[in-house]
Amino acid sequence: MKDQRTLQSVLVTGGAGFIGSNFIRYLFARPDFTGRIINLDKLTYAGNPKSLTDIEQSYGPNRYLLSRTDICDTDAVTALMKREHVDSIVHLAAESHVDRSILGPKEFIQTNVVGTFSLLEAARAAWAGADGVIFHHVSTDEVFGSLGQEGYFREETPYDPRSPYSASKASSDHLVRAYHHTYGLPVTISNCSNNYGPYQFPEKLIPLMILNMLEGKPLPVYGKGENVRDWLYVEDHAAAIWSILKSAAPGATYTVGGENEWKNIDLVHALCGIVAEQTGTPVDQYLRLIRFVTDRPGHDQRYAIDCSKIKQELSWSRGMSFEAGLSATVSWYLANLEWIDSVRSGEYRSWIDANYAGRSH
Ligand code: NAD
Ligand code: DAU
Repeated sequence: MKDQRTLQSVLVTGGAGFIGSNFIRYLFARPDFTGRIINLDKLTYAGNPKSLTDIEQSYGPNRYLLSRTDICDTDAVTALMKREHVDSIVHLAAESHVDRSILGPKEFIQTNVVGTFSLLEAARAAWAGADGVIFHHVSTDEVFGSLGQEGYFREETPYDPRSPYSASKASSDHLVRAYHHTYGLPVTISNCSNNYGPYQFPEKLIPLMILNMLEGKPLPVYGKGENVRDWLYVEDHAAAIWSILKSAAPGATYTVGGENEWKNIDLVHALCGIVAEQTGTPVDQYLRLIRFVTDRPGHDQRYAIDCSKIKQELSWSRGMSFEAGLSATVSWYLANLEWIDSVRSGEYRSWIDANYAGRSH
């Protein structure tokens, strides 16, 4: 294990989103973390302070602060970083949904590209001459493009983004590396596969399927359902981020994945079984809701990650089995219907109405 940084003031961008809220909860649960977390979030449709009510109650205001701020506002971020003596950044804030990026790419360029640039500028200004600081950029395996039946993405895989979302994330990765090489900003990058778990916005495959089952709505499977994703429990991703933040050398990149490949249709079948078991419903009632719908344009066929570097260098490994993780996720959604109602109200509903009218789901 490499030397460990002592981090006392961690700025998490996008901390009210899916991975951000899980990362914050993970960090406060670690006995070796005694510092403060500043959650900087614009609170878009995907950001929900209710995902952290328990954290706010237990740790605010001494160890937890939520600042509603746009990462594109360099001056505000610089001032916040100076005031809070930020020594580390976990940069998660982004527009994250591929389908939305196809329907409206502009916001993805603004937040993911311009926003990351603004955040880098803020870090450079606030940290001029500082020692021991670190900027960790959370990125995606989608920057590497699409795999056929064979092979894995690894740290050296050439970039080949194919959706507006992945192109915007690839651009942000390049900017982060450029700030390291040009200005010496201490950065690290991780490119992770599909996360699942509690607090994921119900536009993504797993929560969408669970909720549609509960509401008796169709389960829309794109194309033939043969696309493959490599699924990782969100808490395992949080652990990977923390190990990188604590120990990785500036300039390092890690690919992170679950070594857990599933065809979408097989995953939907498995989910039907788990929801049926947990709700005491005959599984056929859910299976018959499956609909094969028009494919996502440019749909990447397969993602799979070789994560041997982070396993060897930082002793990280996946902790949660997929069976246990899916079961825990279904239980969480069944027990948190109020959270679901709150995130699906308002803007989310109008967006669905505006963009999905006439589509199969
Ligand atoms: P999410 O959509 O659930 O959350 C994004 C958060 O960012 C929200 O809280 C939102 O309010 C906030 N945000 C958006 N624009 C902002 C802005 N301009 N300023 C400040 N905050 C803003 O996303 P997620 O699934 O938690 O993903 C987090 C990060 O991890 C993203 O960068 C994503 O690319 C990356 N990632 C996600 C996955 C995955 O499977 N979800 C996998 C690999 C990498
Ligand atoms: O690989 C990492 C990426 O994983 C992250 O960078 C993204 O932020 C995250 O959203 C996720 O992207 P995907 O496009 O893989 O996730 P999504 O949940 O949207 O879709 C997963 C698979 O399921 C994909 O092959 C498309 C398919 N799908 C999705 C939805 C929403 C369906 O068949 N039906 C659906 O309704």
